[in-house]
Amino acid sequence: MSARPDTSAAPIHLRDYAPPAWRVESIELNFELGIDTTEVTAQLHLRGDANAPLRLDGEGLELLAIALDGQPLEASAWRYADGMLEVEGARDGSVLSTRVRIHPAANTALEGLYLSGSREAGFLLTQCEAEGFRHITFFPDRPDVLTRYTVTLQAERARFPVLLAGGNPDGAGELPDGRHWARFVDPHPKPCYLFALVAGRLEKIERDYRTGEGRAVKLVIWSEANVIDSCHYAMDALERCIRWDEQVYGRYYDLDVFHVVATHDFNMGAMENKGLNIFNAKYLLADPDTTTDDEYKAVEAVVAHEYFHNWSGNRVTCRDWFQLSLKEGLTVFREQQFSADMNSTALKRIEDVALLRRAQFPEDAGPLAHPVRPAEYREINNFYTATVYEKGSELVRMLAGKLGADGFRRGMDRYFERNDGRAATIEDFLAALGEANDLDLTPYLAWYGQAGTPRLRARGQFDAAARRYTLSLSQHTPATAGQPEKQSLPIPVKLALFDRHGRMLPLRMDGQTEAHETVVVLDQAEREFTFEQVEHAPVPSLLRGFSAPVILDCDYAPADLALLLTHDPDGFNRWEAGQQLAVLAFDDCRRDGQTAVRAWCGALAQLFADPALDPALLADLLTPPGEVELAEREQEVDPAQIHALRQRLQTQLATTIGAATLAQRLAALDVAGPLRLDAVAKAQRRLKRRVLELLALVDAPAAQAHADTQYRQAQGMTDRLAALSVLVRTEADAATAALADFRRRHADNPLALDKWFAAQAQVPGERALERVRTLESDPAFTLKNPNRARALLGTFASGNPSGFHRADGAGYALLAERLVALDALNPQIAARVATAFNGWQRLEPVRREAARQVLTGLAARPELSRNLAEIVAGVLKS
Ligand code: PHE
Ligand code: ZN
Repeated sequence: MSARPDTSAAPIHLRDYAPPAWRVESIELNFELGIDTTEVTAQLHLRGDANAPLRLDGEGLELLAIALDGQPLEASAWRYADGMLEVEGARDGSVLSTRVRIHPAANTALEGLYLSGSREAGFLLTQCEAEGFRHITFFPDRPDVLTRYTVTLQAERARFPVLLAGGNPDGAGELPDGRHWARFVDPHPKPCYLFALVAGRLEKIERDYRTGEGRAVKLVIWSEANVIDSCHYAMDALERCIRWDEQVYGRYYDLDVFHVVATHDFNMGAMENKGLNIFNAKYLLADPDTTTDDEYKAVEAVVAHEYFHNWSGNRVTCRDWFQLSLKEGLTVFREQQFSADMNSTALKRIEDVALLRRAQFPEDAGPLAHPVRPAEYREINNFYTATVYEKGSELVRMLAGKLGADGFRRGMDRYFERNDGRAATIEDFLAALGEANDLDLTPYLAWYGQAGTPRLRARGQFDAAARRYTLSLSQHTPATAGQPEKQSLPIPVKLALFDRHGRMLPLRMDGQTEAHETVVVLDQAEREFTFEQVEHAPVPSLLRGFSAPVILDCDYAPADLALLLTHDPDGFNRWEAGQQLAVLAFDDCRRDGQTAVRAWCGALAQLFADPALDPALLADLLTPPGEVELAEREQEVDPAQIHALRQRLQTQLATTIGAATLAQRLAALDVAGPLRLDAVAKAQRRLKRRVLELLALVDAPAAQAHADTQYRQAQGMTDRLAALSVLVRTEADAATAALADFRRRHADNPLALDKWFAAQAQVPGERALERVRTLESDPAFTLKNPNRARALLGTFASGNPSGFHRADGAGYALLAERLVALDALNPQIAARVATAFNGWQRLEPVRREAARQVLTGLAARPELSRNLAEIVAGVLKS
């Protein structure tokens, strides 16, 4: 029975940071593990100031015994209330012992120690970031308290044959009554959020790894027995990313073992606990029959992300949770570099920029906007956001771009060297990068403290007589909640100029000839940049590679963008030009204009016929910005209309390419034979999916017939799911049978079933709500499993705008009701799903009023957790 935290708790402010009065040099932890009750004894070796009160965090702990320096404490010498244990009489060097009882099986919030799976077959595990450790034992639960851990686990051997904790193994043995024990010692001091243990019946695969420094490391991946064969891809990915971090950053692994564990019950993607990473099964298991190509990539990326945290996060950790992006933004950036190296730089950049626009830009434009380094929070779990992760990574990318590859490596070496074993700040990061390069990077600090997406306005002027091209750049960041005044930021703008034939021009600036591409930095409100010896009016290509996380406003003519889309030598910049052109075409569709529609469709039809173009890139070029992104540009959002217009635009594209050409290409992309997982095969499947979707818009019967066959003959999940999704979306006769087949075929695979739920929750239009209700009564549906709840409710609310935003408000009402039920089980997940309401103020009046009513009703409910209450109150404010 864990007491609910105080929902009205005052916010915590960055400016109030003070170093801890008490530290814990080392801790001995002893667990007597059981599913219903577990007893934890802890001995804390304290360092600190006897004049300062000793306060330890503790949530929902049943205190069984407490002693100081070996003496049991009188009841008058301690107080435990409101999540805080206060102890009198401690001095520097004291040892505090506590014994507490906790209840893993009753823990549905999945933070602290909990049960994954069933009571009979499941296993125990912990999740401590951000503040889960206080649900396990009394401790100063803050990341700037670094401690050496010795952990002893005891349990019944038959029920818990495998016992794991972070650090190196340090003995194991038998105990009376069929019990056994295992001990782990972690030589690296760490904050308590990196503590982890796992206990239960698990299988493993192992691999020996030797680091570039010569250390022999045992890599072990653990899972429940029925999925252990799906762990090999993750093992390969793990080895690749360890080697990559050695080669690219000179960082080596630092323990004798590296354990990774898969669970189906997890609030987030995965967790970088020192020496014992724990993964949501969705980001670890991979198997050709049930894992899509995109999911393979995600597994590789998340395995790398968690591994890279060993340096960017664990060896150098965060001083406080305001610095969260210090580890997350940096680690996302490192993962992006790795994934680009393993796959394709252009495709990875497209994927990441699309994600930024879909997830981070709306966050930054609405009432939940916050800086990459927030200044205050109530519930830290609500700050694991796209802003902290994705925008945080963009900030590191800007710095890396400014320093160049060698300079950035020098700076990172300095950062790791100087902060190893410390809890650091964003300032420490900028200082290390700057000092290693004799540069003052403090102007970039403003990016970390200012919320909102800057608008970059660009206007070009060509002076034929003077053969001069002048580019005027200016910036403006709209006000965000609580931050009315904005300052100018240093915005690196990578650019090139193209002539009318699509050739890049040499750039002559300030009397110097540069290469064909350069970076100018707009570090004030506005500035002009002049290019000499330009013969004809050029087409500028701006923000190449997406050199800064801003929204570009440039008065391109459709023909200019079409030129870049067809001629730019760089895949990402081509895609970017295509996206901007698609936006113009979308506006055309609304006004019955034709110029941009023709330019976009014509350019793509031409590229469609180009046999040299990478099929994966072509697939992305053929995809206009999504509905969420298109909605961001509107004053007043009508999601049904946006959906309809976007469909019309895509239909135009499909018509221009032609049904016959699409069908022909589809046939050509159908390769017989066993499933291949190489890059070429994946690229072909990516294009095949896109072509099938386009064909469905102009020749539904042909597309349905193809999808039906493809569904039945598919060799892997990518093709099977693509076919299923087209059948369901087009309401094909074959959809019912395919859905039933999928349901039966994958009944025992939760990750595959999640896709079955999501594919249906995603179908656009008014009828989505009915589908969701029906799916809720499927016996496999449960709110208790985060992946399942997200697959149905999260997908409906955040991945299906035209379905969720019904004009009658029924989508909002349903979500609010489910959020209350979900919140009682798992506040973190409820809060995350609730962010779907972000941006309701910009809806057209009818939907806006419906959303307002539902949200005010929700906000008034007294039982909401601090997590959900903060999000609901947050989206409500304007
Ligand atoms: N630190 C984890 C990651 O990025 C995310 C996480 C946060 C997991 C909180 C669990 C709880 O990589
Ligand atoms: Zn992370």
